[in-house]
Amino acid sequence: MSNQRIQPELLGGRLIKAFYQIVNTARIHQDNNQLVKESVAQFHDILSSLSEGNSDVPVQVWRGRFHVQGEKILYQREIFSIINEMVEYFSNRNLDGVNFLVSVKGVSPEDIVTFVRLLNDSIRHDNAYEWLNAQLKANEFSWVELYLKQEDTEQSPDMRRKEKARHAYFHALNTVKEVAEKASKGIAGVRKARRLAQTIVDLVEEDNSLLLGLSTIRDYDDYTYTHSVNVALLATCLGRYVGLSQVFLEHLTVCGLFHDLGKVGVSKEILLKRGQLSADEWDKMRRHPLIGVRKILRLNAPHSLRSRIILGPFEHHLNVDMTGYPKTHFMKKLSLLGKILRIADVYEALTSERVYRPRAFTPDEALRRMWSERGKSFDTLLLKSFINMMGIYPIGSIVELNTGEIGLVMEYPDESEKSLPVIVLLKDDGKGGLEKGEAFNLATQDNDDTFSRKSIVGGIHFSRLGIQPSLLFVQ
Ligand SMILES: [Fe+2]
Ligand SMILES: [Fe+2]
Repeated sequence: MSNQRIQPELLGGRLIKAFYQIVNTARIHQDNNQLVKESVAQFHDILSSLSEGNSDVPVQVWRGRFHVQGEKILYQREIFSIINEMVEYFSNRNLDGVNFLVSVKGVSPEDIVTFVRLLNDSIRHDNAYEWLNAQLKANEFSWVELYLKQEDTEQSPDMRRKEKARHAYFHALNTVKEVAEKASKGIAGVRKARRLAQTIVDLVEEDNSLLLGLSTIRDYDDYTYTHSVNVALLATCLGRYVGLSQVFLEHLTVCGLFHDLGKVGVSKEILLKRGQLSADEWDKMRRHPLIGVRKILRLNAPHSLRSRIILGPFEHHLNVDMTGYPKTHFMKKLSLLGKILRIADVYEALTSERVYRPRAFTPDEALRRMWSERGKSFDTLLLKSFINMMGIYPIGSIVELNTGEIGLVMEYPDESEKSLPVIVLLKDDGKGGLEKGEAFNLATQDNDDTFSRKSIVGGIHFSRLGIQPSLLFVQ
């Protein structure tokens, strides 16, 4: 494929994507596999375009973001999770990235694959950097250099927290994916998920606004996975809000992560079908809570934990009036876990764009709609707590102001005043996207003139603006 028509600022993102493809195809295929060959060819193509004019191509992670040749990579919706996975990939190998020298242009595809395989393998070595350097020398790969991970001493505690939260989010995404894939072969364990749940609960205890902001991440390819992580975060925040114990919260997080595990057993055609499902397809869809429970029962986990995390996933499509599915005769009411999951699950689903729906609900629309079903679909008290916790304009939502400006809800400094958040204005970045502008607190505007005070007029769904608010959140 030719890259001539691609804008230079998009090349960096393409490079990371191609890199990612080699990393993954090389894990399962031989060098002569077509997929491996194609991804290497593409990678090589992009590298050559970038090194035109005889410049090196440093690919470096700095404060959680990729920089290619010193240019920060634009986050685009399509490659969002890929970029984050690659940030993790380097970080797990104690690297800040690699520098491809000009001489990379003359390197054979086989050498590139060999290099990527070495990178893949380096995770097994205690000192990945030293081990890799020795391997590069042994192979005479003088066209690439490694960047050892640097401690960022100037990073403020706030930035560190953001990075920790983002790390936890993508770690969660990978964990759900891994367990889902392994569970279909029957060998998955939950140790990682448990440790992760502890981290998430700690983060929620520290500052739930950060995780609520992250829970607005949406990804179409992997919807089931991002959905599961978001549900886990929302449920955990709600659990914390209503004062549940640490241990209970950890179970809630694990339940959220695995609640849709059974969807792995439902075909993509049904999951992604446009328009109405046939009766038969609905039947299959409705089986996912039960399939999920069966998968959880087969997980390699202590018996006591397993028994505690099956009820929530079993119940998550049951309403408090016991309508919904799966039909059950032995239960008279839902468990607390099930009720919390039900709220988090429906809220997340309503605010996501789905193929079968013309547009997603804005957070305020979703909350209003859910409120109209209180006592029937949802436990009234818990739903009330959820709305109080989120605010009508939840953290991470985009709002229109009376001044015509557009803002992103960042946090509610006063927990009891949920109509007055801190807003950051969004403005045109000149590249077809939006960037953060001035931030201000609606509660403490120093403008006495009531006519020029800013206030929220309504919510806007972020997909209409073509952005992911979560990206602006963690920057
Ligand atoms: Fe579900
Ligand atoms: Fe779900």
